[in-house]
Amino acid sequence: MSEAIKLLTLAGSLRRASVNRRLQRVVSQAARDQGAQVTELDLADYPLPVYDGDLEQAEFPENVRKLQSLLAEHDAVLISSPEYNGSIPGMLKNVIDWLSRPQEDGTPGTALFKGKVIGISAASPGRLGGLRCLLILRDALAKLGSWVAPTQVAVGGAGDAFEADAPRLSNDKQQKQIEGLVREVLDASGALRPS
Ligand SMILES: Cc1cc2nc3c(=O)[nH]c(=O)nc-3n(C[C@H](O)[C@H](O)[C@H](O)COP(=O)(O)O)c2cc1C
Repeated sequence: MSEAIKLLTLAGSLRRASVNRRLQRVVSQAARDQGAQVTELDLADYPLPVYDGDLEQAEFPENVRKLQSLLAEHDAVLISSPEYNGSIPGMLKNVIDWLSRPQEDGTPGTALFKGKVIGISAASPGRLGGLRCLLILRDALAKLGSWVAPTQVAVGGAGDAFEADAPRLSNDKQQKQIEGLVREVLDASGALRPS
């Protein structure tokens, strides 16, 4: 039997009651149900300063090293992000920017993204569900050489979108879309994984 795909899930919001953290839990459960080995990353556990080249020279943040290692150890990533003013939240972009900086051994951080399979989803109380953020996030990750799954899911009306007692979306069609996104990511990771 082939080894389980190692999947890292994360949310682009630090807010405790975040709908994207809830979406992260839905995605994580769907991935476990499909046989993946899931690490649910909480970015609040890895606080980072705003990227500053001087700071990078003076004292490279230990939390960036830890996040770079996590990225290296996983076959694929699933991101659930809010949309801020039609774009990527600064917090998430800051994480991506730090991760793209050189690793401890001098290898470019961008190598961590190259060929990495990434699925993207968003949740918002608004009608479009954060769709515009997904377009920009897709572009930023593709620019880093990641393989971004063609399917993406934007959950609108997110205040009422989740089941109260299980990590599931209450709308069956949307739940199926999430499961389809996860399937696409796991299939692509299996196909692209070095033998
Ligand atoms: C600075 C800021 C900008 C926002 N801009 C958008 C936006 O462009 N589109 C949108 O759908 N929601 C927008 N929102 C509302 C967020 O979707 C909402 O606060 C959401 O709950 C944030 O995600 P979270 O619950 O995962 O923290 C914005 C919220 C903030 C704080």
